[in-house]
Amino acid sequence: MKSAFDRALDAAAEDSEHLLGTLLADAAGEGEIARPGRLLEAMRYAALGGGKRLRPFLVIESAALFAVPRARALMAAAALECVHCYSLAHDDLPAMDNDDLRRGRPTLHRAYDDATAILAGDALLTFAFDILSQDATHPDPAVRIALVRELARGSGLGGMAGGQMLDLAAEGRFGATSATEESVVTMQAMKTGALLHFACIAGGLLGNATPVQGEALSRYGRAIGTAFQIADDLLDVEGDAATVGKATGKDAAVGKATLVSLFGIAAARDRLARCVAEAEAALAPFGERAAILSETARFIATREK
Ligand code: IPE
Ligand code: IPE
Ligand code: MG
Ligand code: MG
Ligand code: MG
Repeated sequence: MKSAFDRALDAAAEDSEHLLGTLLADAAGEGEIARPGRLLEAMRYAALGGGKRLRPFLVIESAALFAVPRARALMAAAALECVHCYSLAHDDLPAMDNDDLRRGRPTLHRAYDDATAILAGDALLTFAFDILSQDATHPDPAVRIALVRELARGSGLGGMAGGQMLDLAAEGRFGATSATEESVVTMQAMKTGALLHFACIAGGLLGNATPVQGEALSRYGRAIGTAFQIADDLLDVEGDAATVGKATGKDAAVGKATLVSLFGIAAARDRLARCVAEAEAALAPFGERAAILSETARFIATREK
């Protein structure tokens, strides 16, 4: 039988899949404005039918600490997942990581073409902010603006996009570099950590958290963000493509800078365990109510895909 945690994760995946499908169907719209079918299909391909939906789950569970209505949390979750799916579509492009397999299927540009994948990514990114701006996300426009600002910051220059730039630079593409522990930790906190951090603070924004509660969620989000990418880098070395749903063994082949490449598997595992402990410690102000978020930190470290 499935554990309560697995059931909660499944429910979050199912509910966010359903909402994303509905929002994208509504976006197809009616009336005067032309919506190119190929672009919408590509957006649906990238956003639906796969993924662990861990970021939506974190939004839902962080919001649940404050008894935020689930429908509001799901809107913020869907917006974040749009940004995440766009980041994956662009990450896989030939000019970036050049991958053919994602979520056990051909990557977006392999199923369509590079230009369509670029544009579908652009449209998913902007769609995220459309979703956040809607009344259904939160009745208070100040809360919606706070969500927009935090997601924009997590996605852009000082967040995911900036981190992706540093990731490619660390491959030596723009000139010789040498990675250090600090440079890798910073790069990963941006490319991966920033969106996971948003997932955790979103619940606090939706639920009008106190400063102490908001800081606790922020600290938790930073810790799981670091943990998540260490686990991803370990899976690249130790996982198999059939289970992970994407190519493995690629990071070393292209000279990606990771904590695994710098310090080896054992040291990376050790650091991963310390991140999980830090994440669990951060949740102290919530006591037993944060049991699922605690379990999520452990899930991130032990996941097989
Ligand atoms: C993969 O994220 C990209 C990274 C930030 C490492 P996930 O492992 O959450 O991918 P999906 O959404 O489950 O496919
Ligand atoms: C990806 O890091 C981070 C993103 C912002 C998409 P990776 O390049 O390691 O992610 P995967 O392994 O392709 O999912
Ligand atoms: Mg990458
Ligand atoms: Mg990649
Ligand atoms: Mg990876």
